[in-house]
Parts: sequence; structure tokens; C-alpha cells
Amino acid sequence: MLDAVYNNPTKLIFGRGASAKIVDEITAKGHKKVLLLAGGGSIKSNGVYSDVTKALTKAGVQWVEVWGVKPNPVLSKVLEAIEAVKQSNCDAVLAIGGGSTADSAKAVAQGVFQEDPWAPYEGTAEITNALPVYIVLTISATGSEMNANSVLTEEVEQKKYHIINDLVRPVASAIDPAVQATLPWRQTGYGAVDAISHIMEGYFSGKGDEVSLAVSEALMREIIKSTDKLQLAESNYEARANLAWAATLALNGISSFGLEGDWATHGIEHGISAMHPQISHGAGLAVAFPAWISYTADANPALYDRWAREVWGQNGVETGVKAMKNKYQLWGMPVSLSQLGLCVADIKPIVENISRHDATLGTVKVLRAPEYEAILKLALE
Ligand code: NZQ
Ligand code: ZN
Repeated sequence: MLDAVYNNPTKLIFGRGASAKIVDEITAKGHKKVLLLAGGGSIKSNGVYSDVTKALTKAGVQWVEVWGVKPNPVLSKVLEAIEAVKQSNCDAVLAIGGGSTADSAKAVAQGVFQEDPWAPYEGTAEITNALPVYIVLTISATGSEMNANSVLTEEVEQKKYHIINDLVRPVASAIDPAVQATLPWRQTGYGAVDAISHIMEGYFSGKGDEVSLAVSEALMREIIKSTDKLQLAESNYEARANLAWAATLALNGISSFGLEGDWATHGIEHGISAMHPQISHGAGLAVAFPAWISYTADANPALYDRWAREVWGQNGVETGVKAMKNKYQLWGMPVSLSQLGLCVADIKPIVENISRHDATLGTVKVLRAPEYEAILKLALE
């Protein structure tokens, strides 16, 4: 187990009716005017927008709205929102939506203090200040509601990069699992795959970290069970709640405590969705992770076999990978590049896209461009 520090000050408000309660946190900090950042409109149809804005009005908090954050969010929308913050003197940022909206809110929060808001994503500027961030989450997937990460795409050069900084960690986040019943099924599935992937990024780097490995296995099993239940009944509140909490725990530092982490598969996926933004992050991971597991399994056969046994009830890593792919397919997820609509000619440009930012990826095995290519080829069919 590596030496580690756990410090996650985000206040999490969880349960039925949680969305409007974010306003109590905003008023407790004395904010007078917030930027309300939103996506394509789902929050209007499921009532979350109405609940939150009624509470803002009642509390006397003013707000300015910016809509249109897309999945795989882009810099140009963040720049538009930064302009709105500056024009109207907002003193906090409130995201209502999924990881894309949350990550954009974090980008805005730090970006208002930067000459070039994109520079921290390139690693060419430090983040020294940020507006406070509040999140009302409507899809459980990324863990952005309780972590310090933001992933953003600079769409002209197709760069999908990230920042990790405590200044953009949300002050408070609200999760009402009931509002996730309006998700299209495939989005629930992508969210589950993303959460399982976050756990696996830590898990396979384990070296005697018994508690974190056991927590990780339990979380993966519960995500699978809850997602199966939701496929049968999308409004099953208990299953929504368990999936939501597990997804938060998957990337808030709990399950990965003391683990080195690998993150090569996320690096590879970000190359895929940078170049093909119509592909959801979870879909890219459903394709890339099985291939990465097969490619790296000889690095630690005992742990990979343990994963197959404890998570999938299978003997041996390859039968575990098969079980995972079967489950993903049953959920309607793609499991090959061809099912994502990509072919062998798409692989080289993706490898170049990744290599531009990351000459190496991973810790379980340190990968370079030829290995990115080999893994993507394994994922082809
Ligand atoms: O835009 P709207 O209309 O709101 O629709 C969204 C969007 O189309 C819809 N949706 C969300 N909640 C809904 C709903 N539809 C109906 N009912 C609801 N309750 O779902 C779609 C997907 O939303 P999005 O925010 O894109 O999903 P997600 O939370 O999966 O975010 C993905 C983004 O986060 C990044 C990914 O790379 C991707 O850009 N990640 C962020 C991380 C982080 N901050 O820690 C880590 C992850 O590994 C990941 O890279
Ligand atoms: Zn992810």
C-alpha cells in the first residue's frame, strides 16, 4: 500500500428531493449571483431545473443561464460561459446535469482567472484561483460531483485533456437518484461502465492493498447488480441509489486509497472520443478495457484471476473478460471498435492523437505508441 492522503471536503447531499437543497449550500456561503450551466435540456423535461430555480428564487439568489454543454464538452462553450460570468459578476458556478456539465463548470470556475483558460489543460499554466463550484448531478458516471477533475476538449485540434486541482473540487453536490429514471437506457449503461472502469484503473495496480481491493470488488459487483435491476425496471429507486453511490465512490478517492492507479485505458479512450466526439466516454471504455485487460494480464496473473473470480465468478482472466463483454453486450454496450463504427484505418490517427499528449501511459505495464496500437487492434472486432 502506498503512502496516501485522503482529504475530500465536498459536502454530498443525497436522496429524494436533494436537487433543490443545493441552494441551502449556496446561500450558506453568501453567494448572491450564480452562473447556472446546463446541457441540452433534459433538466427541463425531468423537473430538476424547475425545482432548483424555484429554490434560488425563494432564497433571493440571482442567476445567469448558459445552456448547450454537449457530451464530451468543448472549450468554446466554456469560453462563452466565462464571458457570461464576467459580464454579470457571478460569484459561483452551479452545474446542473452530468459529468460534461460538471467538468465545464470547473473549467469556467478556474478559467475566469486565466489569460488562457485552456492553458492548465495543456499543463502550461497553474491554477491559482477558482470560483466555488456547486453541482446538481443527474447522471451517475464520472464521479465529477466529488472529485477535483475536469476533462475538456479543445475541438479545433481535437485535444481531450484534463486538470486535477483542489480549487475546482465542488464545495457541495446534490444527487437525487430518482431524477435519473428519465435517462435513456444506454446512458445508464455508459455510466455503469465508466464507474466500473474507474475502479479497475486502480484495482489492477494493487499490490497487497487488501482493503482497497475488497472495497473495489464489492463496488464492481454492486454496480453490475444494480445495473441489471435497472435494465428490468428503470425507475427502481433502490437500484438507482446504489448505482449512484457506487459511482461516486468509484472516483472520489475511497476505493483507490493507497493504490498507484494505471489510467492507460482512460488515456486511450480520451484519444478515441477526442477524434470521434459522437462516441460516449462509457462506450469507448466498454471497447478499450477488455482489450487492455487481455494485453496486460501477464503483469500480475494472480490479481487478474482474482478479479475474474471475485467480480465475474469465473476461473481465469480470459473467461472473466468474456463474462464482462457478455454483460456489456446484454446491456446494449458496444464491445469492439467496429461496433463503434470505426475500422482499422481509424487506429493510427487515434494513436497519434494520444501520443501527442502522452508518450507513455499506465503503470501496470508502461505503454507507448506501438502498445496503444496493439490494444486498439485487439479491440477491433
Ligand atoms: O445534455 P442533456 O440534455 O442534459 O442530456 C444528457 C446528455 O445527453 C443526458 N442526461 C443527463 N442526465 C439525464 C440525461 N437525460 C435524461 N435524464 C437525465 N436525468 O445524458 C447525456 C450524457 O451526459 P454527460 O454529462 O455527457 O455524461 P457523463 O456524466 O457520462 O459525462 C461524460 C464526460 O465526463 C468525462 C468524460 O470524458 C466525458 O467528457 N469524464 C469526467 C471525469 C471526471 N470529471 O472525473 C472522469 C471520467 O473518466 C470522464 O473522463
Ligand atoms: Zn471515466
